Amino acid sequence: MLRPPSNLVPASKEKSCMEEVCIQGITVPTLGIGTWHAQGRSCQRIVKEALEQGIRHIDTAQLYQNEREVGKAMRKAGPDRSQIFLTTKIGNKEHAAAAVKSSTEQSLKKLRTDYVDLLLIHWPVAFDEIAETLDAMQSLQAQGKTRAIGVSNFTPKQLQTARKLAPIFCNQVEYHPYFLQTALTRMAKEDGFLLTAYAPLARGKVCEDPVIRAIGAAHGKTPAQVTLRWLLDQPNLSAIPKTTNPTRLAENLDVFDFTLTPEEHSAIKARDQRLRLVDPPFAPAWDD
Ligand SMILES: NC(=O)c1ccc[n+]([C@@H]2O[C@H](COP(=O)([O-])OP(=O)(O)OC[C@H]3O[C@@H](n4cnc5c(N)ncnc54)[C@H](OP(=O)(O)O)[C@@H]3O)[C@@H](O)[C@H]2O)c1
Repeated sequence: MLRPPSNLVPASKEKSCMEEVCIQGITVPTLGIGTWHAQGRSCQRIVKEALEQGIRHIDTAQLYQNEREVGKAMRKAGPDRSQIFLTTKIGNKEHAAAAVKSSTEQSLKKLRTDYVDLLLIHWPVAFDEIAETLDAMQSLQAQGKTRAIGVSNFTPKQLQTARKLAPIFCNQVEYHPYFLQTALTRMAKEDGFLLTAYAPLARGKVCEDPVIRAIGAAHGKTPAQVTLRWLLDQPNLSAIPKTTNPTRLAENLDVFDFTLTPEEHSAIKARDQRLRLVDPPFAPAWDD
């Protein structure tokens, strides 16, 4: 389902070859920028720089406490709002219907926008209330305050339950060469939803990997670039690496001019160590 860009506005410094995926009729640029731990001016600076460099997909969350800075960066950077795919996530204490609505209204104010493209439940901390939460999210969708709704950190079983209750656009989960998501990648492909890979660089750990380094050397690319290419080659997948460093931002963007062989794909997949890096006390009982 990858296809060449159709609606990205050219800008002077912009990379020319972003890729997109079409999910349930909505176009998503497959490479985005994550913003966890990006705060204050440094967050605003890097998001603005990312937009100027051609990124059109931004990931934030109520929990990250940086929606205001993301909003300012979008205003300052230039691209029309309609060109940007913006995701935010509902906080863990905001799952009751009234809280879904009020916290999303606050997010929109901070982000200085009338709508987000994707509104996610950040963690399945109140899974018993999932029907109420999804119902409130669907009301926001009907009012045009979000284009799509989805979830994050849902196990395959939880996702199946959620998908029976509402049109789930996305599950955002940890996914990198050291932690494969075999069940969810298969479901995303078969059922036509977006799987967004968070911590796609395993928080920088892939940079030291000898196999990934050797593959990079063969292409004149860094391990981070090889890892992002490997992820972006997969169907219905997007990746949201985080950096606050402009040089690494440029590096992470420069992944559209090389191809990995099937053997290289398999070699990267074989690095799996079941290394889950994000596992807070409120995480679900993982069944994958
Ligand atoms: N839904 C969830 O529960 C959830 C959980 C975790 C993350 N996320 C989202 O996913 C995003 C990405 O995940 P993440 O931030 O945990 O991990 P990540 O993107 O895998 O790694 C970020 C780390 O790698 C470094 N880095 C970035 N590009 C690099 C490069 N080219 N070479 C070497 N190091 C590089 C960054 O440092 P510098 O900044 O110094 O470059 C940072 O320390 C988050 O920012 C957030 O938006 C969502």
